Amino acid sequence: MDMLRSIDWTTLYDWIGLLVRWTHVIAGIAWIGSSFYFIALDASLRPNPRLPAGVSGDTWQVHGGGFYQMQKYTVAPEFLPAHLTWFKWEAYSTWIFGFVLLVLVYYINPSLYLIDTSIANIGEWDAVAVGIGSLVLGWFAYDLLCRSWFGRETGRLAISGFILLIGMAYLYAHLFSGRGAFIQVGALVGSIMVGNVAIIIMPNQRKTVAKLLAGETPEAIWGKEAKQRSVHNNYLTLPVVFLMLSNHYAFTYQTPWNWLILALIFIAGFLIRHWFNIKHTGATPDWRLWPAAGVPVLAAAILTMIGHGAPPIAAGATPATFAEVRPIIDQRCHVCHAARPQFPGFSEPPKGIKFDSPQQIRTLSSQIYAQAVKTHTMPLNNVTEITDEERQKLASWIAAGARLN
Ligand code: HEC
Repeated sequence: MDMLRSIDWTTLYDWIGLLVRWTHVIAGIAWIGSSFYFIALDASLRPNPRLPAGVSGDTWQVHGGGFYQMQKYTVAPEFLPAHLTWFKWEAYSTWIFGFVLLVLVYYINPSLYLIDTSIANIGEWDAVAVGIGSLVLGWFAYDLLCRSWFGRETGRLAISGFILLIGMAYLYAHLFSGRGAFIQVGALVGSIMVGNVAIIIMPNQRKTVAKLLAGETPEAIWGKEAKQRSVHNNYLTLPVVFLMLSNHYAFTYQTPWNWLILALIFIAGFLIRHWFNIKHTGATPDWRLWPAAGVPVLAAAILTMIGHGAPPIAAGATPATFAEVRPIIDQRCHVCHAARPQFPGFSEPPKGIKFDSPQQIRTLSSQIYAQAVKTHTMPLNNVTEITDEERQKLASWIAAGARLN
């Protein structure tokens, strides 16, 4: 009985989160992997007079000890093959598990990661409603853009799609916490990508198959439309992975420039993807694409560094002592960062960071600096209401060598 009573049920919640995240990442790997593969396959196809009618090109590949001859029917073969593999569950399951994760981490308790009252004093329900509603609206805006006359020209569509995404990022950055804003942009991009599969690509493929079964010729426009959306998805893969990883790097989003940083990363991601897509055609891509992608990444890095310098410590001022620092850590951090956290919902110290002993505090001083002084990531959403003077004290103690005596 004692064993039962000592069961910690919050760990079960953490396990569910872990399993959902695991599945989400695996599905995402399969999806992005097939996106890379098919875009590269398409690019490597070569016309060949000996190919059957309706085949626009073929290519040879070697993998795992065997040779493959791939052929592409531009519209469709004349018959429906008995064994036909569809690619859709990679996309659907990535989105489904991603959405569950979004709910588990952000929407169940929005005050923790989604809302930052120093940015916008938005209610919990409002935050979740805006979060979900904007995913739906964002899809419709993008889809409309693709279908409109304006989107008929690729360059125009690319630029206006980019402006749409960055506009949304700007909006999110002024409504949610930095971290919340980044995950919302990630969720929006992911939703647009899966929308392309579920609402455009798959229905068009089904229409094609129905025509084939009826013994009629499918319309080429269905394939073209599907191809366009599939290319969009391909160019979005690198930025969306950045967005998912950025949540573990507070310096990317804990700055008023976070939306601009995203814009720069999107540009870099598009350019790098473009380099690979050209390379897969067999042509030599322009080497200048690399520096062109490097410059926005560098600019993003600089944006995360400015405005975060250590607060100046007055010359001659005596540094804060550990006796002054200890109560600050105890009062502002220890509820969460302890072997047994008191903060509701935490079964263990987040990221294993514990401030139980003076030694632990000293060892972690540079991380304390990074999270609570340089950026204001900690205390999380400032739930424990640390003051600026207290941050200053932490800074001065750390700058003087984080001594315990
Ligand atoms: C409300 C609970 C809470 C409080 C209070 C809190 N933290 Fe945290 N802390 C967290 C959570 C949750 C994470 C993990 C964040 C994540 O998953 O990225 C974290 C992570 C950290 C990390 C590791 C960051 C990383 O990405 O490696 C440090 C360092 C840290 N906190 C320091 C502090 C300091 C210093 C204070 C007090 C000034 C503090 N925390 C107050 C909840 C809290």
